[in-house]
Amino acid sequence: MQGELKIEKAVQHKPKPDTANLSFGVYMTDHMFTMDYKKGEGWHDAKIVPYGPIPMDPAAKVFHYGQTIFEGMKAYVGEDGNIRLFRPEKNFERFNRSCRRMSIPEIDETFVLESLKELIKLDRSWVPSEPGTSLYIRPFAIATENHLGANPSLQYKMMIILSPVGAYYAEGLNPVRIHVETRDVRAVAGGVGEAKTAGNYAASMQAQENAYGAGYSQVLWLDGVHRQYVEEVGSMNVFFRIGDQIVTPSLSGSILNGITRDSAIHMLRDFGYDVEERPITIDELCGCAEDGTLLEAFGTGTAAVVSPIGEIGWNGKTFKIGSGETGEWTRRLYDELTALQRGDLEDRFGWTQIICSAQTTKG
Ligand code: COI
Repeated sequence: MQGELKIEKAVQHKPKPDTANLSFGVYMTDHMFTMDYKKGEGWHDAKIVPYGPIPMDPAAKVFHYGQTIFEGMKAYVGEDGNIRLFRPEKNFERFNRSCRRMSIPEIDETFVLESLKELIKLDRSWVPSEPGTSLYIRPFAIATENHLGANPSLQYKMMIILSPVGAYYAEGLNPVRIHVETRDVRAVAGGVGEAKTAGNYAASMQAQENAYGAGYSQVLWLDGVHRQYVEEVGSMNVFFRIGDQIVTPSLSGSILNGITRDSAIHMLRDFGYDVEERPITIDELCGCAEDGTLLEAFGTGTAAVVSPIGEIGWNGKTFKIGSGETGEWTRRLYDELTALQRGDLEDRFGWTQIICSAQTTKG
């Protein structure tokens, strides 16, 4: 297996960005984690090294057949000055589920999580502390064998890079307009919709561009068979408040099993709200918008956190959700989830892990 983690510290440190204007995924920290795999040898050569480009052969399978998977998770600094991870073991469990679906060899989840903690400790001065900011963590694996045959690679690289981030969507907690996609589909049951693999995101970009062009910020995806059942919005899971109940599409095999989705369901139930996971059609949803019972809608995701939806566009008609403003239940979920993640609210679910204390010196 991978053996001991080696650490090579950066001699030069990069200038840090202005944490008041971070946006998403622009800046990378000083170090990264890498580990290699070779058939017969397994995962080996695990190390933390200075952040930088990696040499790749143009024939590497990832470039041709998309054999790659990734995760998204975050570290936060709270009022107590500690850096916390939020349910990181769930991300590495899902990492391995995605690996299995994409014929990538599984990693040792405990070893990689411990390595991530070392990486965060080393780059602790990069974790931003302003409200709405966090350290985004991107673990990923790519097929690196140089061979044009369309079969599973015999070699892989797994890496973790870190990026201090602000809000994923420019709108922040202001409601977005979403467009129901009726031509393209994101995924089908039996396909790879449940895996966090690059192709799912590449396949959604054309519809995303079209939605932007029509004045919308996000795409609402329908199922690929009946073109009726609501699946996800943008790269988030989606929730609707209909009267006094919250409804979210049940996991169908083509929907991402979101960790923020699962956390939102637990928290909303803990607030005393009635949450139902079930199939929901676009006809039902727009009918509820018309009769005034669709009161709130929001997406959930690691990058986007909780993102309110104010309006749905479908087949040339627009449907307003509630007053079009961020709903009361949506705001409560956002406030309590983010406070819990930062450690500013008691963690009654046991979801957070303290990694180390933050070090805010600018370098
Ligand atoms: C995440 O929410 O972490 C994701 O991986 C979605 C990605 C489009 C940023």
